[in-house]
Amino acid sequence: MNQIAIVSLVAVILSQKVAVNEAEKCQRSNSCAFRNILNTGLCWGYEKDCPKHLSYSNASCPEDHKGWVSSKSQQLQTFDEQADFGFLKHQIQSKTVFCKPEADGDSLLECTQYLQFCRGSNLYIDFRDLVSRPEAFRYKMDVLKQGQIGGKCKLNKPSLISEATHLSPLQSWAPEMQHFEELPRQVNSQSNMCDIYIDKPTYIMKIDATVNMYHHFCDFFNLYASLHVNGTTTQMFSRDVNILIWETYSYYSNFGITWSAFTQNPLMNLRTFQGKRVCFREVVFPLLPRMIFGLYYNTPVVWGCQESGLFHAFSEFVLHRLKIPKRLPTDRQEKPRIKITLLSRNTQYRRIQNEKELIDKLKSSSRRYSVRRVEFSHDTDFRHQLKVIQDTDVLIGMHGAGLTHLLFLPDWAAVFELYNCGDEHCYADLARLRGVHYRTWTDATKLKAQDEGHHPEGGPHAKFTNYSFDSEEFLRIVDLATNHVANHSAYRMLHNTQTSESERDEL
Ligand SMILES: *[C@@H]1O[C@H](CO)[C@@H](O)[C@H](O)[C@H]1NC(C)=O
Ligand SMILES: *[C@@H]1O[C@H](CO)[C@@H](O)[C@H](O)[C@H]1NC(C)=O
Ligand SMILES: *[C@@H]1O[C@H](CO)[C@@H](O)[C@H](O)[C@H]1NC(C)=O
Ligand SMILES: *[C@@H]1O[C@H](CO)[C@@H](O)[C@H](O)[C@H]1NC(C)=O
Repeated sequence: MNQIAIVSLVAVILSQKVAVNEAEKCQRSNSCAFRNILNTGLCWGYEKDCPKHLSYSNASCPEDHKGWVSSKSQQLQTFDEQADFGFLKHQIQSKTVFCKPEADGDSLLECTQYLQFCRGSNLYIDFRDLVSRPEAFRYKMDVLKQGQIGGKCKLNKPSLISEATHLSPLQSWAPEMQHFEELPRQVNSQSNMCDIYIDKPTYIMKIDATVNMYHHFCDFFNLYASLHVNGTTTQMFSRDVNILIWETYSYYSNFGITWSAFTQNPLMNLRTFQGKRVCFREVVFPLLPRMIFGLYYNTPVVWGCQESGLFHAFSEFVLHRLKIPKRLPTDRQEKPRIKITLLSRNTQYRRIQNEKELIDKLKSSSRRYSVRRVEFSHDTDFRHQLKVIQDTDVLIGMHGAGLTHLLFLPDWAAVFELYNCGDEHCYADLARLRGVHYRTWTDATKLKAQDEGHHPEGGPHAKFTNYSFDSEEFLRIVDLATNHVANHSAYRMLHNTQTSESERDEL
């Protein structure tokens, strides 16, 4: 079994796919297939003593950097620091204690650079005045006032304030932490400081738009990343935690089942605690979805590189925790058909006007494609959506948040953004980060817009109209995407039962 296969297995086992106690169980049992590869020193990549060859990521830079950096090794290092476990390493290294405990039972506050991530013990938050503030809170910077957050610890206020420069709701915890105060020490200190004491670890989250898969998965992605930033302890993947959403709206989203990857407990929001002073024994303020140079919204990523291990691990984590079945090897006699899924939009804009013609073109191709057309609406069961995506080799869709599904494609898959409507980087970059092959329409003379488009705020706009596509050109691009899939080692392994069986025997 090769090193890389071991890496992915162990990383998966020891850390996330199964919780640590599962790994221990595995070690004791004779039937656990992964027994021999536990304790092999494999690591994620951000640990102090994690050598490159034992780390999780398969990132590479097969193409030119277009002048970002001056060498191949710098290119890969830049990618690692922008978008892979190196990004988390920087977060971890920049952790600073801003409020220091001085006795047993004291509080602690530590944060990373620009207060993008914070963690505290025995923190106090005063929600008493929310009762008299009936307004709705979302993306608000004034939930807390001076002294409504604090702890019994030695506060370095100047140092805290010097990091509080990203004053924007979804960019950092500065809007909240700037109000942090040292609480007075009384003789019998424990008594009555709080109305409620929360013992379970709690993640407090400021989240982006929950109706939009691209934006909402930015929340989940950063929460996942924050599990790593908080620290590699046996508890790091525990689901017995609270999640408190820093707004007053009751949460609803069609993607909401994804929370169950992180917690087994009901979600909380600001109204859960209004009127109360709450002491949190362990609290984490995770990385945020719109951080400057954060991930993955609008992130500039060095050219030429692909396959972030962090994105891979996130994808595996969600699929595993939501129990989405992985593809199994097919019958050895039959030449497998490439499975194409076309995401059809049921919106006002960016419809494919000649969708049927395109699907018929695929069906009549000599490559015997297996074609499925799906419409994912706001009430399509999300686990069903993920199952469809896992069962896809080539995903086709117009520019739009639905393409965020590419995060959950198999490693060998390709995505064909039929037309990017002039927004070139969004999904091309996301595909590159996830390590799936990307294609889009290239010949503008071979597509036709219904009209010049109508931006809701006025003026023509390429995203606000419908399109029809030349079917020959369409098939040509699908064939190219298919070549990638058919040539991918993981795809070939899956469909060559002989190799995959002997691989399994080795385990
Ligand atoms: C790295 O590549 C190997 C070999 O293709 C694969 O088995 C493994 O899953 C990949 N790991 C990641 C993190 O992408
Ligand atoms: C975060 O890390 C700290 C220190 O390692 C740990 O005590 C705490 O339980 C962790 N918090 C969560 C929510 O896992
Ligand atoms: C796009 O197509 C849909 C469905 O046919 C239609 O309702 C909508 O008005 C069209 N949009 C434009 C800009 O023509
Ligand atoms: C594999 O890739 C080569 C080009 O690199 C291509 O000619 C060939 O058709 C591909 N194989 C399959 C099975 O598609």
